[in-house]
Amino acid sequence: MKPLLPGATLGVLGGGQLGRMFAQAAQRLGYTTVVLEPEPNAPAAQVSPSPIVSAYDDASGLAELAKRAQAVTTEFENVPAAALKQLAAHVPVRPQADAVAIAQDRRREKAHFTACQVPLAPYAVIASEADLAAVSPTLLPGILKTARLGYDGKGQRRVAHAGELAAAWAALGPAPCVLEQLLPLDFECSVIVARGADGQAVHLPVQRNLHREGILALTEVGPGAVPEALSEALVAAAHTVAQGLDYVGVLCVEFFVLRDGRWVVNEIAPRPHNSGHYSMDACDVSQFDLQVRTLAGLPLTAPRLHSAAVMLNLLGDLWFAQGETAQTPPWADVLALPGAHLHLYGKHEARRGRKMGHLNFTAPTLAAARAQAQTAARLLGMAPF
Ligand SMILES: Nc1ncnc2c1ncn2[C@@H]1O[C@H](COP(=O)(O)OP(=O)(O)O)[C@@H](O)[C@H]1O
Ligand SMILES: [Mg+2]
Repeated sequence: MKPLLPGATLGVLGGGQLGRMFAQAAQRLGYTTVVLEPEPNAPAAQVSPSPIVSAYDDASGLAELAKRAQAVTTEFENVPAAALKQLAAHVPVRPQADAVAIAQDRRREKAHFTACQVPLAPYAVIASEADLAAVSPTLLPGILKTARLGYDGKGQRRVAHAGELAAAWAALGPAPCVLEQLLPLDFECSVIVARGADGQAVHLPVQRNLHREGILALTEVGPGAVPEALSEALVAAAHTVAQGLDYVGVLCVEFFVLRDGRWVVNEIAPRPHNSGHYSMDACDVSQFDLQVRTLAGLPLTAPRLHSAAVMLNLLGDLWFAQGETAQTPPWADVLALPGAHLHLYGKHEARRGRKMGHLNFTAPTLAAARAQAQTAARLLGMAPF
């Protein structure tokens, strides 16, 4: 396919913050954007002209998107595969429906990792009473996760011993699940890969992630964040996973690093990822620029990290640091810190656990970025790290 040059219209299914940052990156390059999203005034709909307000599986909304856009991407993995298929009959859709369908189901995801010979946590599929009875005790203590629709730690139950398993499964549906062995994590990492239709692939530097209550709280990147040899191994594994899917677009691959130094792949997200947001300020090409390039068929250049960075996720909880009435956090104080880059998503109502924005700190060294981020965390009433 010839590249779609600036001036063309790029479509995105989904109107959340990832769609917003995609649209902004596309517009900077001179593209027109069109967003399909059920919620009027959603973060991406605010920044893109004439959004299509329709359900993701509404045939007439999808038809309008296919008519207005010359290529379409998605900003979240739970868009119905049938919607992507309908669009793909008319316009290029990246990532392709097949790859998204694998990322939507932990069973298929794990089967893919196994096929790629990338190490993963020991696990079993639990889809029936018989599966439940057959669980090997070596998987316990473990984490039971719904095969579909889990995110930010939702759809998961810790299971300490066999006696807790049936109740945990019942509490989750009972829906098809995977039971994973609970691993002794040292830390977590992720790698963002971008792959073009011609198979050319680039990646962002490996980032180190801290989760709190199942939600990403903080990401660090830069010299010293992740040991060199580990970084190389994770980058190679991430490319293998993308290549095995014949993936086109931006893919995030999450990893666990264990206390004994081994590592396993955890899961994939078929889109830019919260853990890659630092690239907007610390790299010369961001994960959203890469999404635009892979969608439009433009050349991919290897992103260069020009600053160390710490990203803080800004959850709605920060609006309640002073009490039960929501109050705007002290942004002016935060922006007085050198290297602060504030990104807010245009969500009007703050709620606990809701992703309202993120705050990147860039600096010449990771220690310096961390020091500024710690000051900001104090100003915002965030738990120290
Ligand atoms: N097998 C495991 N062993 C130890 N910790 C785990 C395991 N699986 C998940 N976790 C913890 O729970 C978090 C969320 O799990 P994950 O599978 O990534 O689901 P989600 O789709 O909600 O991101 C992980 O980032 C990690 O901190
Ligand atoms: Mg995860």
